[in-house]
Amino acid sequence: PEKRVKLVIGNWKMHGNRAVNAALLDALVAAGKHLPAQVRVGVCVPFPYLGQAQSALECGPVAWGVQDLSGNAADKGAFTGEVSATMAVDFGATLALAGHSERRNLCGETDGHVVDKARCALEWGLTPVVCVGETLEDREAGRTEDVIGTQLAALLEAFDVAALRQMVFAYEPVWAIGTGKSASAQQAQDVHAFLRARLREKDASLAGISLLYGGSVKPGNAAELFGQPDIDGGLIGGAALVADDFIAICHAA
Ligand code: G3P
Repeated sequence: PEKRVKLVIGNWKMHGNRAVNAALLDALVAAGKHLPAQVRVGVCVPFPYLGQAQSALECGPVAWGVQDLSGNAADKGAFTGEVSATMAVDFGATLALAGHSERRNLCGETDGHVVDKARCALEWGLTPVVCVGETLEDREAGRTEDVIGTQLAALLEAFDVAALRQMVFAYEPVWAIGTGKSASAQQAQDVHAFLRARLREKDASLAGISLLYGGSVKPGNAAELFGQPDIDGGLIGGAALVADDFIAICHAA
């Protein structure tokens, strides 16, 4: 079968300050040389700390990126409050989350916005990490595959195969995010297998895309989740703020 890239990405969300970040970044730098060579590790930090992440990480193996970016086709202009992909690239970022459920739910981001953001990321050489996931209500109503299939279809329709091959997808069940209640390894595997089948239907080569799981990944459950045949790593929230936990999760991948 296709050889897929293993990835563990920390999503710091709206956490941190210069002092706390410095300690966390130092720990990642120190752990860097011992990180498994076959696992790509990255952190997505709040915009104001991109420069700090760059200074700390630029000589090591850990990548950094943003949690969101502007979906405006123009890379500059009258878009108050927006941050463009070019600005992230200017600080050495290589990763950009798009469509995290918190952006979809709290900021009203639609599948259309997610497509625009992924397009901007790709245009400037960032790897888009596109997040999909169902709510508890969706799951209980048996709509998980409908919801996730629709979120994925927006990307599959908007991009050609060459562009899609540059992306990473993350499955984050909304009910598992920050709740301490991870999806079971089997639940996560089932959705990952569904996503991979949809990707393969579009083009066989898309089965090689890395699919990450996110939602209450901890050192204690990471190995079982990452051991599933269609799970290629994780998108880590709370545990990414604790250096030892995040490093342990990287080793589990
Ligand atoms: O993007 C990562 C995320 O939403 C999962 O958060 O805190 O459940 O690991 P957490």
